Amino acid sequence: MTSAATVGVMAETSGARREDGNGMNDNGEKGPSPPHRADTRVVTAGRHPPSYHGFINPPVYHASTLIYPSAEDYVAHRGRYQYGRVGTPTTEALESALMELEGPRCAGVALLPSGLAAISTALLAVVKAGDHLLVTDTAYGPTRAFCEQILPRFGVTTSFYDPMIGAEIAALVRPDTRAVYLESPGSLSFEVQDVDAIAKAAHDKGVIVLMDNTWATPLFFRPLDHGVDLVIQAGTKYIGGHSDVMLGTVSANATHVAALKQTTFLYGLCEGPDDVYLGLRGLRTLAVRLDRHCKSGLEIARWLEQRPEVLRVLHPAMPSCPGHELWRRDYAGASGLFSIVLRPVPQQAVYAFLDALTLFGIGPSWGGYESLAIPFDLAPARTATHWAPGGPTVRFHIGLEAAADLTADLERGFAALAAAA
Ligand SMILES: Cc1ncc(COP(=O)(O)O)c(C=O)c1O
Repeated sequence: MTSAATVGVMAETSGARREDGNGMNDNGEKGPSPPHRADTRVVTAGRHPPSYHGFINPPVYHASTLIYPSAEDYVAHRGRYQYGRVGTPTTEALESALMELEGPRCAGVALLPSGLAAISTALLAVVKAGDHLLVTDTAYGPTRAFCEQILPRFGVTTSFYDPMIGAEIAALVRPDTRAVYLESPGSLSFEVQDVDAIAKAAHDKGVIVLMDNTWATPLFFRPLDHGVDLVIQAGTKYIGGHSDVMLGTVSANATHVAALKQTTFLYGLCEGPDDVYLGLRGLRTLAVRLDRHCKSGLEIARWLEQRPEVLRVLHPAMPSCPGHELWRRDYAGASGLFSIVLRPVPQQAVYAFLDALTLFGIGPSWGGYESLAIPFDLAPARTATHWAPGGPTVRFHIGLEAAADLTADLERGFAALAAAA
């Protein structure tokens, strides 16, 4: 189970509200088609050519106001669309495509201006003054900062927990605990969480479950099927796929969709039409890109594991990664983001390694077509766990370049590291 090809195993009944561009069932032209595999659904989901004069893709509606046929229609809010901020055929196409991919438990999707906006909106949709949150110690830095710096202003407190806690999260749940927040795997240190065990323990105590699933995308893991109530994607990463868009999505089950939609609406949040379109365009090639990220990522991670300079590889599909067994149990593939722990060398040697790379850019974010590498240190960021990996750490995003060229580039980097050590 180490290839994105295994995504095909995830064939399941689709939660499609209307048929895709090939099935065309709104008016019964062809009738419903059988449930398709996820690789097919990224291509077909959310499409409806009859609505757009037969063109494959929806137009990009640049819209604020729309005009109602009559005063009575306006007063009664009659009509499929109400106002640009609330939805257009372009946003509807991406939302319904994502709903299909998230699976039958998905009752609605909100599109937001960034992954971080998706995180804050999802949290604000569930908390009220006096509530307590349990957040994984591995959460993306600004998620943590939002909980520590913004939520206290609304009377919400946060405790951080060990990502490997599993069912024992039950012992941390207090009478005022409203929600538990997961990010799996951690996007720098890659601990894979036991989503089923945490969700069950939380639900047994009436606690809501949120998860940042950006690393896996719904093609490799569908959190709603595992008990998660609200799922976050930084669409900026793999859904966009080309490092040219900021996009966030939150997918909710039936219990939480109304609160999600209300929060998005009353905070006045929406995503611009061009960026929605880029998200939709990126989605169409997600399966084939992930397949390459997965294969090249593993090939390079295994190559790195053999290097004398490398102490440990933190890649969910490799046994050296905490929670690897959970990845094997739950995931249909691995994306291209992972880290290594180097044998101890001065930090200047790590910088020399990174500066010598020509195909790997040094920069934040990930999920685009290009390879990236950054140094990081999580010691100051952890409060519930202790980060002492045994050497300097580097995170890689393996892009769509030829893997052999990337390993040759890394060879150059290791030569520079040796020279500087
Ligand atoms: C795991 C994870 N979630 C969320 C985000 C935030 O996404 P955005 O940059 O679109 O705000 C990031 C960004 O790096 C991330 O790594």
